Amino acid sequence: MFKYLAITASALALVPAGLSADFALPDNEVLFNKYFGKGTQNYKCNGTVWALDSADAELYLANDYTGSADITHFFLPTPDAKGGRPSWKYHADGSVVTGIVTKKVNAPSSADIQWLYINKTSSTSGVLENVDYVFRLYTKSGIAPPASECAAAKAGNITKLPYEAQYWFYKASPAATTTIPVATTSSAANLQPVMTTAGSYYSDAAAPKATTSNGINYGDAPMTTTTGSYHVVSSASKVAGSFIGLVLLFIAQ
Ligand SMILES: *[C@@H]1O[C@H](CO)[C@@H](O)[C@H](O)[C@H]1NC(C)=O
Ligand SMILES: *[C@@H]1O[C@H](CO)[C@@H](O)[C@H](O)[C@H]1NC(C)=O
Ligand SMILES: *[C@@H]1O[C@H](CO)[C@@H](O)[C@H](O)[C@H]1NC(C)=O
Repeated sequence: MFKYLAITASALALVPAGLSADFALPDNEVLFNKYFGKGTQNYKCNGTVWALDSADAELYLANDYTGSADITHFFLPTPDAKGGRPSWKYHADGSVVTGIVTKKVNAPSSADIQWLYINKTSSTSGVLENVDYVFRLYTKSGIAPPASECAAAKAGNITKLPYEAQYWFYKASPAATTTIPVATTSSAANLQPVMTTAGSYYSDAAAPKATTSNGINYGDAPMTTTTGSYHVVSSASKVAGSFIGLVLLFIAQ
């Protein structure tokens, strides 16, 4: 009478094709979102060589950098308690995640800066609070100038090199996928008894729907199906949850 399609959290983890060896993630991680970043890599000359000092970039959802940027990429002036400096600030709520580079992979072209695996070291409350990993991928330009341009007289000088990159953000799955028996009709009387956790419920393919005042959503169209699994998402995790829908759309393409 009830049929369920169980989609596990790990099935939603998304690492760029061909990069699974270097960019493997724990099973419970899912892609939160990917952004297109454009800015500068800032190098400081110490009189002998240029070393990375910081980076500044704006991150967009659109790959042509149209619309307004959602995130600013910057470096903390001094490392956090776990040594992290590269940071991302979400404009809408001011949340910041900071990380440390734990793996570097050469880009396909030596004209482009390396691809990076970054582990979170700290964060502040908001959308980016629960980001665990950030990958810098598909880089363009941004390579340090040659040492020959860092003479002793230039010690202390900073040069800013334009670059572009994709930043992929990962969070732990918002909740273990919960399979809820779906009643044969979507009436409140049938669905409410199984949807006992306050929060937003949505089907595998649908974005979270608005919750009712009691925190339980039982009247939306996706709930009328008699098959499928429903994810249970706490109110605090709704944003992360909404991206599962995007991930599925992405996979479907
Ligand atoms: C500049 O940094 C490099 C790499 O850390 C180091 O080998 C070199 O001695 C430094 N040069 C000066 C003048 O401090
Ligand atoms: C970074 O995260 C990966 C994946 O969880 C882990 O294997 C690695 O030990 C972490 N590195 C550091 C320095 O925390
Ligand atoms: C540092 O860079 C600025 C701007 O390019 C330049 O005017 C200045 O002369 C440089 N300083 C040194 C010591 O080369």
